[in-house]
Amino acid sequence: MLEFNFDIKNITEQEAKKQLEYLAREIEKADIAYYQNDEPYLDDAQYDKLRHLNSALEAKFPHLIRKDSPSLRIGAKIKSEFKKVELSVPMLSLADIFNDNDVSDFIMSIKRFLNSSDDVVFTSEPKMDGLSFSALYENGVFVRGATRGDGKIGEDITANLQEIKGFPLFLDKNVPARFEVRGEVFMSKADFIALNDKNVAEHKKTFANPRNAAAGSLRQLDAKITGQRNLSFIVYTWGEVSDIFWKSQVEFLDYVKELGFPVNPYNKICYTEQELIASYRALMENRANLPYDIDGIVYKVNDLDLQKRLGFLTRTPRWAIAHKFPAEKAITRLNNIRIQVGRTGAMTPVADLEPINVGGVLVSHATLHNEDEIKRKDIRIGDMVVVQRAGDVIPQIIDVLHDKRPIDSVEFQFPTICPECGAHAIREDDEAVRRCTGGLSCPAQAVERLKHFVSREAFNIEGLGDKVLEAFYQENIIKTPYDIFTLEERNKPVDLFSPYPSLELEKRDGWGDKSVKNLFEAIRQSKKISLPKFIYALGIRQVGTATAYLIAKHYHTFTAFMEAMVNLDIQLLISIDGIGAAMAKDIVEFFKEDHNLNIISQLLSVVQIDDFDDISSVDSAISNKTIVFTGTLTSLTRSEAKSKALSLGAKVAGSVSTHTDIVVAGENAGSKLSKAQELGVKIISEEEFLQLLP
Ligand code: IVH
Repeated sequence: MLEFNFDIKNITEQEAKKQLEYLAREIEKADIAYYQNDEPYLDDAQYDKLRHLNSALEAKFPHLIRKDSPSLRIGAKIKSEFKKVELSVPMLSLADIFNDNDVSDFIMSIKRFLNSSDDVVFTSEPKMDGLSFSALYENGVFVRGATRGDGKIGEDITANLQEIKGFPLFLDKNVPARFEVRGEVFMSKADFIALNDKNVAEHKKTFANPRNAAAGSLRQLDAKITGQRNLSFIVYTWGEVSDIFWKSQVEFLDYVKELGFPVNPYNKICYTEQELIASYRALMENRANLPYDIDGIVYKVNDLDLQKRLGFLTRTPRWAIAHKFPAEKAITRLNNIRIQVGRTGAMTPVADLEPINVGGVLVSHATLHNEDEIKRKDIRIGDMVVVQRAGDVIPQIIDVLHDKRPIDSVEFQFPTICPECGAHAIREDDEAVRRCTGGLSCPAQAVERLKHFVSREAFNIEGLGDKVLEAFYQENIIKTPYDIFTLEERNKPVDLFSPYPSLELEKRDGWGDKSVKNLFEAIRQSKKISLPKFIYALGIRQVGTATAYLIAKHYHTFTAFMEAMVNLDIQLLISIDGIGAAMAKDIVEFFKEDHNLNIISQLLSVVQIDDFDDISSVDSAISNKTIVFTGTLTSLTRSEAKSKALSLGAKVAGSVSTHTDIVVAGENAGSKLSKAQELGVKIISEEEFLQLLP
């Protein structure tokens, strides 16, 4: 199941990058399930939430927009068995809105774009929950049908559309020479039930909903099967047309209706915002009585000239929007409040629910956000709660039925001890989350922390990849950083004097003498480590490579640093430019925990930390310059670039200002680059930056 435990306001760039990668992967998987396999596992709201999170993160960090970003494509790549069809006019998607205020905003943004206060006329059309199609007519003869595919290349479904009852194969001679209509193929609720009943009787696969049934029926390589299913269609827009003579959406709809295409009888023209909202309410109330599924209302600017002026964003028009129906709700019992511990020790409460069907999806967990949220809503174990699946990936508890509360119920006490490891869980004054202080000794955090420990900017141990570490942790081979350094000893063939049975790593699947030898060599080499890398490897909260460098630069030896921290002597620490009070507090807290001190003392017995010689006094082209990195760097990571710059005496800043001396712009640099251009700051490429390095 999908889980997103980040807060978009406070998310760090590093975390955002990870989330964007995750979102790209999840959206791609969901797209394939939806468009290619007709077996979606996310409902619309869940899917929309993913796309929204993706857009929000991209808006916040434009330079992190990936080449494979979901925002740059519409649907999924197409299934190979169908012939491909190039859509000369792309088939686009619609942006979604969820409430009345959004309708106002939509209208306002249109007026603002047009720079006019004149009223704009809209159509309001039911948003059919089926699958869009394109049908091209040449001189009035149906010549080609297509699905949307990825928006630019669709699948050839000419034969399939021909099989749908009532699908016009010839049109009145007066139609434009090239005339492409677009609309939705769908299955009525009654036909869907009948089809599923028939499939049950024949021991065949049943469909989850009418939309899937329509998609599965239309996208049949054997078009005869399509003909055996009862599919319906309506037309709501057009694609390539050699001669557009209609001047508005309404005129188009009237025209195609005259030609014999079905159009939705609930399409309406609306002159005011109130009329749009009224049309939305009316259909929402009537939704259950309609013979087919709709999932919202589409508002379109009626006038074609205005549509043209408004134009398009990447994948959606500015002149149309989908007003989605609200999430479904249900009432169920809260069986337990479970605390999940994340990588950084963040403790997230999760509601275990008596499983309940919410709008067609079985829900058994909900998010409870954080400690305060539970308090504010006074949510207790045993309560009857209202669960909602909204534009949210994870279902939420939106209300508690206090009158149904069991008499023996007690207020929920958020644990102050980590349920995974028993360490103290503390909460900073200005933070919403409580965190386990167990660090590496907390199993929930350990593996992720171990990954950090061996990462490139830390101990840099090749051969201990994520998968290997996960397996080794599971099998008790590596539980702590120290275990890494005893691995070779523990792997030795058993003799009379050896304290352990051999791990026999070379006998593992995919391993051999050579890989084991290489791993041990990498571990041996990593034992000699620079001070900044060692400090960074400890995984102290908020201490990234740049901070680790600053600490090293000011304390010179690990002993000096540790002694100061253990004695709570933080004068020097907080005097360092770039280390604030909050960070200093995290650092001191780290050294207050016995288990962290244990890990450090074990490590000190096996590693050799080089004292830090301050090389920043070395004169370099960038010493004392303030540098900002933006965009994707190709030959080194952002952290490597930062530590290189720092080691040459430069200061590294996160944002561009008049104090910035140099901006290093990588690929897809965004707002920081524009800001630098605006302020006239010197901008150099990654390559030019590399040339500055000795
Ligand atoms: S107009 C450029 N009108 O919604 C706008 N779309 O999210 C093109 N849909 O792919 C679409 N009913 O499958 C339009 N009355 C309607 C619609 C409608 C359903 C679907 C269509 C489209 C998706 C957009």
